[in-house]
Amino acid sequence: MSKLAVKGGLPVRSESFFLWPHFDDRELRNLEDVIRSRTWFAGMRGSDPGTKTEEFEKRFAEYHGTRFGVACANGTVAIEIALRAAGIGTGDEVIVPALTFIATLSAVLQVNALPIVVDTDYETHCIDPERIEEAVTERTRAIIPVHFGGFVCDMDRIGEISKKHNLVVIEDAAHAHGAVCEGRTAGSIVDIATFSFQESKTMTAGEGGIITTNDSDLAEQCIMYRSCGRKQDDSWYVHHVLPLNYRLSELQSAVLLAQLERLEEQLRTKNRNAAFLAGRLGRIDGVTPVPGDGKTEVNGYYLYLLRYDKTRFSGLSRDQFVEALNAEGIPSHIGYPWPLTKNPMFEGIPPGPKGCPYTCPFYGGSAQIANTHLPVAERICEETVVIPHEVLLSAEEDLEDIPRAIKKIQKNVLELVG
Ligand SMILES: Cc1ncc(COP(=O)(O)O)c(C=O)c1O
Repeated sequence: MSKLAVKGGLPVRSESFFLWPHFDDRELRNLEDVIRSRTWFAGMRGSDPGTKTEEFEKRFAEYHGTRFGVACANGTVAIEIALRAAGIGTGDEVIVPALTFIATLSAVLQVNALPIVVDTDYETHCIDPERIEEAVTERTRAIIPVHFGGFVCDMDRIGEISKKHNLVVIEDAAHAHGAVCEGRTAGSIVDIATFSFQESKTMTAGEGGIITTNDSDLAEQCIMYRSCGRKQDDSWYVHHVLPLNYRLSELQSAVLLAQLERLEEQLRTKNRNAAFLAGRLGRIDGVTPVPGDGKTEVNGYYLYLLRYDKTRFSGLSRDQFVEALNAEGIPSHIGYPWPLTKNPMFEGIPPGPKGCPYTCPFYGGSAQIANTHLPVAERICEETVVIPHEVLLSAEEDLEDIPRAIKKIQKNVLELVG
């Protein structure tokens, strides 16, 4: 009879880990306040005085050590707004990492600039600063590092490169709410930063996003691009820049205010549990937590990242391993299946109807991104196993089931191979 759950055996675990999204009476009370107030809309600027959205922006910015927060509809448009605010557009190149959600790249296309995809640092899964330096051309205007999984990128090196070449840096901190590196909080380190509050993220209102910055001019631009091109003190029908509606609602801000109250404690729990789990997994040959560069003091832990070595599992493929792990009751997935450049949108025809920005007359060249050489990202995509962040909010005795399930798969692997 088979032992492994994927073959019909009994799973290691049948109960859930910590459930996500998490809520308690705070979310419910805040939502009830908003509903009863009959102010469900955050006002013409998108966070008018006295609204929950204004309060959330202030608190989120303060937590992350920045002067301004501009809440918006989601993390994708947060990047687009940041790019527009920084004046990035047609004919410009923006350097983005190979390993990230498509939004980091699609926001660049949305402003008609050209994303230049560069390779990855193996230890952190973040963008490799040396590859950034090689990719800079006279058209480069910005870099968007992503704090992958919750590790903070090498912002000192990225800062040096940006100064040398006069580039704007936009931190994509969608994976790194509250992460701290060498005393600096993600979202406050460079010119401007963006976050997502989509449901899988470490704080959420189902959807949502925010931009943080210390620069009052950038903040003013962001506010205009977030809400119909309106300026702070102007009236409803006066539009100063491209009039987009990327506002967040009061209902979402009500939920986010409650979620933010828990962030610090949840980060503490996740960082403690990650260290505990690393200790346990360290005793298993073939599954290793991604180490980072040792500089991130508080990891945002959106993703708990493991390297899987199939040679220690009799050649069992990573995808089969993940299937077997899920069958044992351990939530896990493979993460990004490939570097961004492998997406079908880059095969043959370029994204825009007229070829822009790839063959745009303003760009003056013809870029081909499908063939970009990204060996480190390729390798990472083949060997990564991801455990979602909420699992790290479970009790230590529940986490013990993770090494238990992995050891069980390793011991009985011949049920699956050969
Ligand atoms: C790195 C990164 N950037 C941006 C986004 C976009 O956020 P949203 O889904 O809120 O648009 C995501 C979402 O998964 C992300 O992972």
